[in-house]
Amino acid sequence: MIVHVFESKDQVAKAAGAIFAAQILKKPDSILGLATGSTPIETYAELVKMYKAGILDFSKAKTFNLDEYVGLPASHPESYISFMRRNLFDHINLKEYHLPNGLAKDLEQECRDYENTIKQAGGIDLQLLGIGNNGHIGFNEPNDHFVYSTNRVKLAESTIKANRRFFDSEDQVPREALSMGIGTIMQAKSILMICLGEGKAEVVEKMINGPVDPKVPASILRTHHHVTVLLDQAAASKL
Ligand code: F6R
Repeated sequence: MIVHVFESKDQVAKAAGAIFAAQILKKPDSILGLATGSTPIETYAELVKMYKAGILDFSKAKTFNLDEYVGLPASHPESYISFMRRNLFDHINLKEYHLPNGLAKDLEQECRDYENTIKQAGGIDLQLLGIGNNGHIGFNEPNDHFVYSTNRVKLAESTIKANRRFFDSEDQVPREALSMGIGTIMQAKSILMICLGEGKAEVVEKMINGPVDPKVPASILRTHHHVTVLLDQAAASKL
């Protein structure tokens, strides 16, 4: 695990943008794993900037998002598909993207299909991750074991509270999501994790210095052979 600490979150976004750019330049048909939430917004803005400047071409790439809420229509502004369109897809020339369908009739089958589609595409070359305050990656919440494949998850109470800021009231925050599993994430050829702000400092310290433990799902990343972690100073303040 390589850890870089930057003074500001702008620098983190530029560094993350550079890692994505290098991946797309060396393999234009890359399979990219994407995340939502506050953390990657500036990184996506960097990618849009590089696309508009004629540096990056996404036309041969394919993307797979980590997760999607169960039960939110795609038209809802807080669905992850809406988030991705707003922050990235509507502004670049990407032709093929995938998110799990949280409205599928058979959600378990949807999870199996999502996992297979990733495999058929050849697996993920570069997976972007944020981290939950409780150590979750994707929506793999603290657990007594690591869940392997794409699965239907019940969001932890702390995640519902953390995501409350995107909705009018806590009641409106979906209680379930479909998420790539820890195994799906760990099969990515390389992983880029971004952690920003003081609120993440404690869990970042646990991920880096604590035991590998399903109670801090992100700690498993220490066993992956190619993980880069980009932190701003606030997120690194407990290291
Ligand atoms: C989002 C995701 C989550 C977030 C995490 C951090 O697709 O899978 O694991 O990365 O909850 O969220 P933010 O960035 O809002 O702090």
